[in-house]
Amino acid sequence: MKKFVVVLAAGKGTRMKSKLYKVLHKVCGKTMVEHVVDAALGVDPEEVVTIVGTGAEDVEKVLEGKSKFAFQKEQLGTGDAVKTAAELLENEDGETLVVTGDTPLFTTETFNNLFKYHQESGNAATVLTAVAPNPFGYGRIIRDEDGNVLRIVEQKDGNSEELKVKEINTGVFCFNNKKLFEALKHVTNNNAQGEYYLTDVLEILRKNGDKVGAYTMPDFSESLGVNDRVALAQATKIMQKRINEEHMKNGVSFIDPDTAYIDSDVKIGNDTVIEGNVVIKGNTEIGSETVITSGSRIIDSRIGNNVTVTSSTIEDSVMEDNTDIGPMSHLRPKALIREGAHIGNFVEIKKAEIGVDSKVGHLTYVGDATLGKDINVGCGTIFSNYDGVKKFHTNVGDHSFIGAGATLIAPVNIADHAFIAADSTITKDVDKYDMAIARGRQVNKPDYWHKLPLSKDKEWQ
Ligand code: UD1
Ligand code: CA
Repeated sequence: MKKFVVVLAAGKGTRMKSKLYKVLHKVCGKTMVEHVVDAALGVDPEEVVTIVGTGAEDVEKVLEGKSKFAFQKEQLGTGDAVKTAAELLENEDGETLVVTGDTPLFTTETFNNLFKYHQESGNAATVLTAVAPNPFGYGRIIRDEDGNVLRIVEQKDGNSEELKVKEINTGVFCFNNKKLFEALKHVTNNNAQGEYYLTDVLEILRKNGDKVGAYTMPDFSESLGVNDRVALAQATKIMQKRINEEHMKNGVSFIDPDTAYIDSDVKIGNDTVIEGNVVIKGNTEIGSETVITSGSRIIDSRIGNNVTVTSSTIEDSVMEDNTDIGPMSHLRPKALIREGAHIGNFVEIKKAEIGVDSKVGHLTYVGDATLGKDINVGCGTIFSNYDGVKKFHTNVGDHSFIGAGATLIAPVNIADHAFIAADSTITKDVDKYDMAIARGRQVNKPDYWHKLPLSKDKEWQ
């Protein structure tokens, strides 16, 4: 059996009150429409066609390579939307899964179950249904006394009896492909919203003598449709739980999974511990036996094995194995912390490499620099990289020692085994084995206290 997928994504989503196209809102770091398409790709279809509307270039961008596109000029309803895929699909023999782009929680497993049921029952159309605790807003499944599905009634069209029904249309269907496109020709917009409803296809097929049915999924929450920000937050919560449980099954410990916010594509090794109140986003990979403490925020970064991140922010950076950082430090884009290096508290590093086993312990800024191995950077050091117009680079060689409070004014090169005296302002290169000292000499003035005006009043001195 050939399988096809149609994803409905042309609606603007007025209820989101957003500049952003509805299906481009993200759930755990991934757009809703990508969640849907990725789950649908799991059924191994011949073709995925996504229906997009005006201004939908960005939808095409996020789905590039995964889907073909059909363009719906005007949002005339879900039936009209599917019809725009006719050019690409109507002559195909096979079964077509139709799914809405604003239902991000569906799993491949559910789609496969629907396909299986659809095939085994010999239906021309099968709607995926669920029992909703509060069915308001959803289309209701109307059955006869024997339980046969008659039709789907939308919220705005239903009478009071029909609206009591708790079995709802999840927005997902399996259709015999050719029968779907034939039936769509007969859908009218004679209803409360003046729209062409996809849901009407069911009744059209049944009246035509075709077999239609419903497959009821056990977990309503998976079918949650996101029409506003409240539902977006609910979907995020459910997805977050799912993501964290998957990591736990793979051997990651969570101290408080309710407050660990981890994006969909993040990878984490086993025996790593994630404390509560942690955010890990984007394209991030974390190794094994690593600890991420509360208050940490990691974005698009690679963290190795046996690393400790204590209440720190890491963006677009790399921490190799056996390193540590924090508390309260910040790796800004393109920081590379080599194996065994130590980054202490209140340190900011940007576009800089800290070599193997080097230490940047306290209150330091390192920007645009390359540091070799086994270097000690003293407290309060500043890599002064910016003259107000351009950025300049600093190099520090292996085994060098930078005394506390030094300012290294770039561009400058410090050789291996160099020693920079504390509080020096370094503007010239320093050679191997040399010590550089660049600060005002100390002058002590004997008995100066008694010349100070305040000393007169201070008998106790
Ligand atoms: C739809 C169903 C309803 C179901 C619910 C499940 C219909 C008529 N109603 O209602 O039975 O319970 O989903 O979540 O099908 N879209 C287009 N073009 C359009 C209109 C919509 O592409 O002209 C897309 C939207 O982008 C969205 C999806 O279709 O992704 C569903 O549209 P929406 O307006 O959210 O339908 P619901 O009112 O939720
Ligand atoms: Ca919807």
